[in-house]
Amino acid sequence: MKITWLGHACFLLEGRKRIIVDPFLSGNPMAKAKPGEIDVDLILVTHGHGDHLGDAVEISQRCDAPIVAVYELAVYLSKKGCKVVGMNVGGTLDYDGVKISMVNAVHSADLVGDEILSGGKAVGYVVEDDVSVYHAGDTDVFMDMALIGEIYKPKVALLPIGGFYTMSPKTALKAIELLKPEIVIPMHYNTFPPIKQNPEEFKVEAEKLGVKVVVLNPGESLEI
Ligand code: NI
Ligand code: MN
Repeated sequence: MKITWLGHACFLLEGRKRIIVDPFLSGNPMAKAKPGEIDVDLILVTHGHGDHLGDAVEISQRCDAPIVAVYELAVYLSKKGCKVVGMNVGGTLDYDGVKISMVNAVHSADLVGDEILSGGKAVGYVVEDDVSVYHAGDTDVFMDMALIGEIYKPKVALLPIGGFYTMSPKTALKAIELLKPEIVIPMHYNTFPPIKQNPEEFKVEAEKLGVKVVVLNPGESLEI
């Protein structure tokens, strides 16, 4: 699998399928790709905040790719004319042999525009393609990350470390203890001033726990 960080919480996972998660590209000062350049089979959205839903509607329509989202957000996106797969936490989508499981996240999820609409709840995903990857979405650390680790055994964990809106480097260390992945890629930091962090300091501390931390710059990939 080739895992490319496109900035913030946006990752491109290229295994047997091409999957993009949280395609916030337009308006992301760190983004290294434009929505018009993205060619994918499937889009996963962790919740309806603008820095995650991002360009999902445009990419979905241009690529004819369904958006996987929690049920309420999927209903909202279907009204925008997108193909959707509305599921819920605990569920697994078998997408041509690639398994996409929706897991819990501890975070708010309403859509904030001129009015506030219910977005269901915030979630994370485990993608079991040729490699198992856990994308935590926006979340604080929670004890049930131990269950995610036990059940899905993700080799790679994509974890927010920005703090302020999500886990910080300190609490992400606790998440690593619970999940027990082999590789961690930090995300959701340095996009905006409130989430400024030093990923190299996080790497030093996290690698004391026996995991490998791969710090990517936006646009860079890890092949495993
Ligand atoms: Ni959020
Ligand atoms: Mn966010």
